Amino acid sequence: MKLFLDTANTDQVAEIASWGILDGVTTNPSLVAKEGGRDFKEVVMEMCSLVPNVSAQVTATDFEGMKKQADEYSSWHEHVVVKVPMIVEGLKTLAYCKSKGIRTNTTLVFSTNQAILAAKAGASIISPFVGRLDDAGQNGMDLIEEIMKAWSHYKFDTEVLVASTRNPQHIIDAATLGAHIATIPYALFQKLPHHPLTDAGLEKFLADWESIQK
Ligand code: E4P
Repeated sequence: MKLFLDTANTDQVAEIASWGILDGVTTNPSLVAKEGGRDFKEVVMEMCSLVPNVSAQVTATDFEGMKKQADEYSSWHEHVVVKVPMIVEGLKTLAYCKSKGIRTNTTLVFSTNQAILAAKAGASIISPFVGRLDDAGQNGMDLIEEIMKAWSHYKFDTEVLVASTRNPQHIIDAATLGAHIATIPYALFQKLPHHPLTDAGLEKFLADWESIQK
């Protein structure tokens, strides 16, 4: 299973990459906006020097515009994965990118039918958003279960990335359902290494060790 960090903050990428477990980064226009207008190319290039997969989202919504942005972003660095929204013009862009050998991540996937269309158009990755489905009163993980079941019948090369994760259980569920990737916000990433019994156990080990040093 690959773990990506969901951020546009390069310091956060450097920190989590230093743990030795980070496979990639996903950005989106909202995350980029939060970083206060840093040059997008500069941010992407910095991330590409730290991890092998960096999703950079197109902002055009017509095929010609998306194609142009896909060509541009993919020319920046071989680690760039062009992120394309799950709309009809996006499907055309996925097929174009596939024909050019440009890696893609299809964003804003909320149904298994969308997942199938994106895979057939040649997406390298699809990103179903579990947290936003949970927020809307549906169980986001049901969608991942349904997609993984569909995937088990076919030979799609497309990787399933669990996006919009909100809590540690989302990551466990993504793993047990066999999803290929989970993208995780920085605050959630910080929670994953910890367990109260680990902290209490270490404290006791160190206290016992200290007691025999005197
Ligand atoms: C990742 O590619 C998505 O853009 C991201 O996970 C969306 O998360 P959110 O629903 O918390 O904004």
